[in-house]
Amino acid sequence: MKKRVLIVDELHPLLKEKLTQMHWSVDVDETISKEKAQAIISDYQGIVIRSKFKIDKPFIDKAINLHFIARAGAGMENIDVEYAQQKGIICLNSPEGNRDAVAEHAIGMLLSLLNKIYTSNTEVKSGIWNRNANWGITLQGKTVGIIGFGNTGKAFAQRLVSFGVAILAHDKYKSGFATDNIHEVSLDFIKDNADIISLHIPLTEETNYLINDSFIKTTKKPFYLINTARGKNVHTEALVAGIECGKILGACLDVLEYENLNFESLSQSEIPKPLHYLLTSEKVLLTPHVAGWTHESYRKHSEILAEKIKY
Ligand code: 3PG
Repeated sequence: MKKRVLIVDELHPLLKEKLTQMHWSVDVDETISKEKAQAIISDYQGIVIRSKFKIDKPFIDKAINLHFIARAGAGMENIDVEYAQQKGIICLNSPEGNRDAVAEHAIGMLLSLLNKIYTSNTEVKSGIWNRNANWGITLQGKTVGIIGFGNTGKAFAQRLVSFGVAILAHDKYKSGFATDNIHEVSLDFIKDNADIISLHIPLTEETNYLINDSFIKTTKKPFYLINTARGKNVHTEALVAGIECGKILGACLDVLEYENLNFESLSQSEIPKPLHYLLTSEKVLLTPHVAGWTHESYRKHSEILAEKIKY
């Protein structure tokens, strides 16, 4: 009998094609609810998901024939990986699929913020030609601190090399990654030296609100913050206080604390005060959790997962 895989999110059709060639029987249901998927999961050996729902203990308990859970993306916070692995289920992800997209997006946001490209574009288009108010900040010569040196941290660092910046990188779970241009340092060293801090970490209990009041108060220099990781890595209230007092010079945020679980929207409740501040501040550039999404990365996730499912 053929092995069956259920794809519950929108993925590039290449994945279905490749898995079919590999003799999987593939069902795609992009609109399936968690309840429905949980009711039928015992019929499947594989499931592929992006961020539609949490694959938690009750779900895994029903998945009695599952061999693998594959996530299109880097973060695994919507999957109880530890429990799945205890049950002998292989957990896969595809950080190689969108690392270049995230790195390019982070560079784009940083250059745009430093050079006031968004605000001056808006002014020129509304008839304002104000050169003096739109001078930029040169990236060359600055010190950039990268927290997390996995796929996206490394891809971001590689791009920074050509800008003539000092690159500091810290990863609590990795060492031996320094190169001629990338210095491996402690978190405290980043806090003492960085002009720009960029997050490339997963969301875990340890990294929840990593950037909080105490972090911000104990950096030596005022700094720019880039977050293309997860909204909850940053305590937004502390970020706003940091901007207000000048300790944070500006922020590039692709992710927000107030996003829904599946990243598809901001939560519908009333706009909290800190979010309102971010929405109206010229020192803050926002994008809708799209750093990892390009036409190329959409296809690449499928390519990478198909490779990894080959077992
Ligand atoms: C998404 O929209 O699913 C994420 O941006 C992609 O996942 P990742 O950030 O975990 O790579």
